[in-house]
Amino acid sequence: MTPKHFLDLALLESSELRHILDIASGYKKGMNVAGGLAPLAGKTLAMIFEKPSTRTRVSFEVGMVQLGGHPLVMMGENSQLGRGETVADTARVLSRMVDGVMLRTDSHDKLLEMAEYCTVPVINALTDDSHPCQLMADIMTIEEHRGPIGGKVVTWVGDGNNMTNSYIEAATRFGFELRLCCPEELMVDQRYLDWAANEGGNISVVKDPKQAASGSDVIVTDTWVSMGDTDYDRRIELLTPYQVNSDLMGQAASDALFLHCLPAHRNEEVTDEVIDGANSVVWDEAENRLHAQKGIMVWSML
Ligand code: CP
Ligand code: NVA
Repeated sequence: MTPKHFLDLALLESSELRHILDIASGYKKGMNVAGGLAPLAGKTLAMIFEKPSTRTRVSFEVGMVQLGGHPLVMMGENSQLGRGETVADTARVLSRMVDGVMLRTDSHDKLLEMAEYCTVPVINALTDDSHPCQLMADIMTIEEHRGPIGGKVVTWVGDGNNMTNSYIEAATRFGFELRLCCPEELMVDQRYLDWAANEGGNISVVKDPKQAASGSDVIVTDTWVSMGDTDYDRRIELLTPYQVNSDLMGQAASDALFLHCLPAHRNEEVTDEVIDGANSVVWDEAENRLHAQKGIMVWSML
């Protein structure tokens, strides 16, 4: 039987994603859901990091402990993976010893290779292409503050990156309108837009940030320089007009939420005034990584 991998939102049905969120919310409310208080007792999750992390590492590690299981952190450079052992061979070995593998890596192909050769579930904890775990926390946060996300207008302003790709998939699976406002040079890969169009997603590309933000229920952005990006100066030059500041927030609905997956580069992509302002829900969003992770782990590993 194929393991229940959590690789990308596009690969899962809307009903499965909703089920994961229900599990996550249940744990957040302290309800005894999906297998009791320690559903993952006796199980181990190998967590492989080939890129830095604060939220993802802490939320998976703490979440696994709270679920009664054991988290095993492997930093890429300190494992044989970092010395050239193949992903496939690593997958074969880990599958003999652990019950799940979480991978944060610089290449989406490595994630797919891990999933192909693992006989236990693999969870995408960020690649250069996507960050689906973060989207589960984002949807949970928006719904906690504003009710069901279906039909809401979410505007992405800034770099077209791994988060943006996952937002496209989330909009399509959860049925919200997504406006993308990115410099042309930093726009997402067309294949994500094509996929969404094919699946009936409501995604539009809007050039002007103010026009994109107009009347939006949610404004979301991310760092202008993601892990692995090297062209800092060019990015700052291109992205400066896309800063989320009070002026831009003023175009959105008066109760519009501000989200950011963090870490933030204050006064680059977002001003202090906005991230620390009354409409910012970034700390709830960060906390929800813990609850969302628990939903994902229980769904895939129980
Ligand atoms: N948002 C997020 O994934 O944060 P970390 O890089 O700290 O894990
Ligand atoms: N786009 C960012 C997200 C960090 C959580 C990056 O890949 O660095």
